[in-house]
Amino acid sequence: MSLARGSADCIVGLGWGDEGKGRVVHKRARGYEICGRGNGGSNAGHTLVLKDGRKIVVHALPSGVVYPDKELYIGSGCVVNPIKVLAEIADLRANDIEVGDRLHISVLATTVTPLHVLEDKLTGAAIGTTGNGIGQAYTGKVMRSDELGLTNLRVSDVLSDPQRVKNLLHQRWSALKIAILEKYQALFILYCRKQESLKELSPDFALEAVEKQVLSDIDSFIESVKVMSRQGWLERNAGWMNSQLAKGKRVLGEGAQAIGIDVTYGVHPYVTSSNAGPGAVLVGMDVAPQFMGTVTGVIKAIASRVGNGPFVGEFGGEESEKYCAADPVPGRVVEQARYQIATLLRSKNPMEVGIALRMLGDEYGATTGRPRRLAPLNVHKLQQDVAIHGIDDIVITKLDRLADFSGAELWHGDIPVIAGYELGGEEIDYEPTTESELRQVVSRLELHPRFLKDISGITNSADLPLQAQAFVRAIAEKTRASISAVGVGPGRDQLLDWAA
Ligand code: IMP
Repeated sequence: MSLARGSADCIVGLGWGDEGKGRVVHKRARGYEICGRGNGGSNAGHTLVLKDGRKIVVHALPSGVVYPDKELYIGSGCVVNPIKVLAEIADLRANDIEVGDRLHISVLATTVTPLHVLEDKLTGAAIGTTGNGIGQAYTGKVMRSDELGLTNLRVSDVLSDPQRVKNLLHQRWSALKIAILEKYQALFILYCRKQESLKELSPDFALEAVEKQVLSDIDSFIESVKVMSRQGWLERNAGWMNSQLAKGKRVLGEGAQAIGIDVTYGVHPYVTSSNAGPGAVLVGMDVAPQFMGTVTGVIKAIASRVGNGPFVGEFGGEESEKYCAADPVPGRVVEQARYQIATLLRSKNPMEVGIALRMLGDEYGATTGRPRRLAPLNVHKLQQDVAIHGIDDIVITKLDRLADFSGAELWHGDIPVIAGYELGGEEIDYEPTTESELRQVVSRLELHPRFLKDISGITNSADLPLQAQAFVRAIAEKTRASISAVGVGPGRDQLLDWAA
């Protein structure tokens, strides 16, 4: 018989990482005492709109930080960049949000060092990483050690022997410098071109400047861990979370990234370096299995993703993929100057309709301004993800944007979803795992009746147009998960409990 009393619920992304999880966590966190993170690090970006309308973005910290009564936990499954965490805490303080003594960072978490960050910035472009050194830190964790010594520097390692870590990082910098001179030369030049302080320098002077910065960052890295320790933010007891749960505390786990870019279930190499499903998030938060509670998945009514990689059913297919990756970026301002939404909506070309949907839905990356690639909601994949990850309930965000289809001539204004896949002429009932198969997949669309009304002002889901209600019910039926809320706009009050 389980002695468990508290429980740990979890919210995860079911798309490609920009489903609007932050707002769901923000709204639900009120009902919990502890908010935690169990995967990823500063690569996440959860935008929260505060009561007074101020927008803040949290990266490594749990979104629950905005509530002064919540304890915060960063678990052993996360990777922690101590410099960035302190900078984030300072930013929050500038917004009158104090972390105080609420923060607990597991000393078992792996650190992201300044060298990881630099290496990611040099080499991450092919995947389109966020440049936070996430892959390098997780690589070091599973590699454990190499000829120079530990590759997995956990917070506890930095704390227990800072001088040894400093020496090791200096040695690692010497090795990276040789690699820059020998194999990363071209990448280094590209990197320098993008840095304001380096772009005018010759490669030799640029390398000197980078060296100076790296050595100074190594000092800050070690100092930041010491600051965290002095503030009482480092949790030495790996059983802390379970002891809180045993006392009956309610815990909310906040998944970072999403199942579409999960290191196991996503399509390589276009993935992040951690598992983003609920099991991994809770294990990474050091929660024992008997405390695991319910799992909520968040999905957008029109799918979106940024960066490269196959995206089944994308409006405009590979033409759209190339277009969205163009340099300079065809962002919000460029598209507004270039296109007329009304003209695009009259087009029979899905690429043009996709651009119209992006402009109407304001689908541009929050940090980079990159245009997000759009596709119909992929119910075929969603069914599988719900089953694999044991999703109990689903939140559908941006339901209001489905009304945009009603203005389009394509599909007679009805709402497309991906209902099935064909591969090599055969219907398949699974999500292929390789890039080449996913690029060959032909998606079978199913059309749902359009709704014309702007639903963003509706405050009760029972008042939604019948077609919108039927759409939501169809998703529940097909995935066998219940729907717990729908989003009808970006505001705090536009996330409606599903009561229809
Ligand atoms: P990394 O996690 O920085 O290594 O980036 C790997 C891939 O995951 C890139 O395509 C990133 O754009 C994507 N990614 C990482 N974190 C997020 C996130 O929080 N939201 C959306 N995409 C993300």
